[in-house]
Amino acid sequence: MLSIRSFSRLRWHVPHTGLLAALSLTSLLASAQTVQLTVQPGDPKLLISKHIQGQFAEHLGRCIYDGIWVDEKLNVPKQGRIRMDVVRALQKIHVPNLRWPGGCFADTYHWHDGVGPTAQRPKMLNMWWGNNLEDNSFGTHEFLELCQLLGTEPYLAANVGSGTVQEMAGWMEYLNSNDDTPLVLERRKNGHPEPYKVSWWGIGNESWGCGGNMTAEYYTDVYKRYATFAHNYPASPPLKKIVSGANGDDANWTETCMKRIPLNQMWGLTLHQYTLPTGSWSGSKGKATGFGEQEYFNTLRNGLRMEAIVTKHAAIMDKYDKDKKVALLVDEWGVWTDVEPGTNPGFLYQQNTLRDALLAGTTLNIFNNHCDRVRGANLAQAINVLQAVILTDKERMLLTPTYHVFDLYQVHQDAQYLPLQFQSPDYVLNGEKIPALNASASKDKNGAVHISLVNLDPNKPLTLETTLPGVSWKSVSGRILTSATVADYNTFDKPTNVQLADFKGAKKKGSNLAVTLPAKSVVVLELK
Ligand code: AHR
Repeated sequence: MLSIRSFSRLRWHVPHTGLLAALSLTSLLASAQTVQLTVQPGDPKLLISKHIQGQFAEHLGRCIYDGIWVDEKLNVPKQGRIRMDVVRALQKIHVPNLRWPGGCFADTYHWHDGVGPTAQRPKMLNMWWGNNLEDNSFGTHEFLELCQLLGTEPYLAANVGSGTVQEMAGWMEYLNSNDDTPLVLERRKNGHPEPYKVSWWGIGNESWGCGGNMTAEYYTDVYKRYATFAHNYPASPPLKKIVSGANGDDANWTETCMKRIPLNQMWGLTLHQYTLPTGSWSGSKGKATGFGEQEYFNTLRNGLRMEAIVTKHAAIMDKYDKDKKVALLVDEWGVWTDVEPGTNPGFLYQQNTLRDALLAGTTLNIFNNHCDRVRGANLAQAINVLQAVILTDKERMLLTPTYHVFDLYQVHQDAQYLPLQFQSPDYVLNGEKIPALNASASKDKNGAVHISLVNLDPNKPLTLETTLPGVSWKSVSGRILTSATVADYNTFDKPTNVQLADFKGAKKKGSNLAVTLPAKSVVVLELK
């Protein structure tokens, strides 16, 4: 049942338009659980960047080693040591960019140790993640071969915390120049005659924390120094230089970066925001599986903070960059729980439930609805770490519920943004409430309209009465992700426990669309 306090959230759902005056209290109360939704024509020039659906692969636990790069003897299809079952699954969701080598690891990584004959590469201790021995067998060439197989944009994080300006500049020269310098000759000798043309460069990672514990003022000076020597080479496209941004709602970090770094020295500014079921970094972060409804509710409530956080940073950026030239990149996000019992605590291996998929759909909807500023994001992390889309166990692999959300949402990649207007009913538990419904919409280059809908209420379906002024369409189809409980997940023995199905709950009624959205579901509709 809607309460009068629900009015205060109206703007939450319509970030680019104001609907405030449209609904009276009487009509709200009368239409409990039935949502009137309008799909607006929008601005043809405003696109949802495909890069919102980026992934992140760090040298952490079993993401790279086991997840991507395996022992020659492992009985899976391989190209060299890259496992092709994983590659094929990632190809299917069209990963637009892949961030590497970290994370915290990036600020300890010395790229030159990871090129040349494998046997001669020095080993190092992975000090952030379990102190295990990193043999550098997966280095720059191997990562870029993976990107080429995936058809994805490489997004490299340069070592600012413990590396030098010279080291970073050398990596750029090695990859992007085609002049006969010693580094270019070395690249050619290592098997790649042509420049790799890598344009996405993060200058540090979490420089307020594991990247050097810097103050915002100090980091901006360091950034400008590194960025000065981040050269463009004629053989490659200009660099997209990316500022290491804020932790969660740290407004001062964003304000300082925007104030002190000239706009022409940055292409993007990052933001990291994780969702912990308990909301606390000390003690238990919360369960990955086997949680009850209260922990489910708390996880969603904490995850929905992304809306306020993105709004806050975007508003600060607007003050210094009215034309929205600088992209906000949420290049680490996802659910972070306690690790699976019996696994190395430093490896951050966790299972992944329907709850996490619902939150992934919600978060991608938030990013889509802020696509004027959010032009990139990276789920943490792709394989075997945190909210992974893929889990592996030796030869076996499975697709998590979160993978299926990326599969559903790929229709939004580079499509025109369509604003939505609606008032969500509440999902209420023990006196607290969150909006049950969230959504986003786009129109692709062929004119098909896609609407992604998430019902977070685990108990109640929603009915949607949808109008689409200006859209002419003949048929609707859709796919749904749901399961018997929000704590359901896929195992290596039952890898299709939670999977996509055709959705039959949408009907054309004249020029309108009627939808019955099941409890705890993600649905993507196609109208054409
Ligand atoms: O994704 C795991 C870690 O979380 C990353 O290495 C770091 O950047 C963040 O703190």
